[in-house]
Amino acid sequence: MIVLGIESSCDETAAAIVSDKREILGESLLSQEEHKAFGGVVPEIAARSHLEHIDEIIELCVKRAGIKLEDVDAIAASSGPGLIGGVVVGVMAAKALALALNKPFVAVNHLEGHALAARLTSDVCYPYLLLLVSGGHCQILVVKDVSEYERLGTTIDDAAGEAFDKVAKMLGLGYPGGPKIDKLAKEGNPHAIDFPRAHMEDAPYDFSFSGVKSAVLNHLNKCRMTGEPIVEADIAASFQQAVVDVLVDNAIRAAKDYHMDRLAIAGGVASNGALRAAMEAACEKEGIRFYRPSPIFCTDNAAMIGVA
Ligand code: KG4
Ligand code: ZN
Repeated sequence: MIVLGIESSCDETAAAIVSDKREILGESLLSQEEHKAFGGVVPEIAARSHLEHIDEIIELCVKRAGIKLEDVDAIAASSGPGLIGGVVVGVMAAKALALALNKPFVAVNHLEGHALAARLTSDVCYPYLLLLVSGGHCQILVVKDVSEYERLGTTIDDAAGEAFDKVAKMLGLGYPGGPKIDKLAKEGNPHAIDFPRAHMEDAPYDFSFSGVKSAVLNHLNKCRMTGEPIVEADIAASFQQAVVDVLVDNAIRAAKDYHMDRLAIAGGVASNGALRAAMEAACEKEGIRFYRPSPIFCTDNAAMIGVA
């Protein structure tokens, strides 16, 4: 079976052709640049940009796969959660193609796409524990099978990616902030500033990032008032370390409590270098098999939608 997957729920317009053997036959992806000037994704601009580019993105991936649209057996689109204007563009494009080609249309939950992304590049068996960390979500799930998930924990305030983006904004690094902090942190000392790590005893798999975010702001204000130098690389590295510590601690605790010997990461933040390294080391120590999709399958993409 060959499936065309479409993703347009945030600021990536993407299409991919995947087979039932989970091979990617062709893909194309456009990351919208229009939002940079605004420091975040502007939903209306995103929707208009998806509309402008979706046809050429689909055409390009079909061409790269070396097939004809008629060869596709089903058409899948990310149908939420996401920015509704963009979701509508992808879903309507998929439905129009499905109708014209007389092929089934499959609505895919965007988070389910992220949850199954690990299966794009590895033969990870069910069940596995998943740390899903993106711009909109931060969850620990047990992936029992396709369509069968148990949520163990979630964020009580910001998603991990949101915290990265907001701290990057405070440091004047621009949007999206996650990759910029990741890069700058490589030049800094992760132990320079002791930012708080929030652990909730009554909800050990939940997350909270508002404290660390405020702590970064307080640190910047204190430096400005006292004339202490602002070492941006140290702030980036120390903030990143605080977030990574909590993500790793909670995920490993859940894996141990639920006797999971497989752990996967997904979502944009899963492409963070420090998180990937720390989680790999922690899994090795605990005898847990660790699955990390390559960064292009962590951030939003259409192959994960096709596979789901
Ligand atoms: O999964 P994704 O592409 O879109 C959503 O569904 O949200 O995730 C985007 C988020 C953004 O907040 C971005 O800053 C963050 O993932 N991100 C990163 C990195 N790459 C992307 N955060 C930390 N380190 C990275 N290398
Ligand atoms: Zn996403």
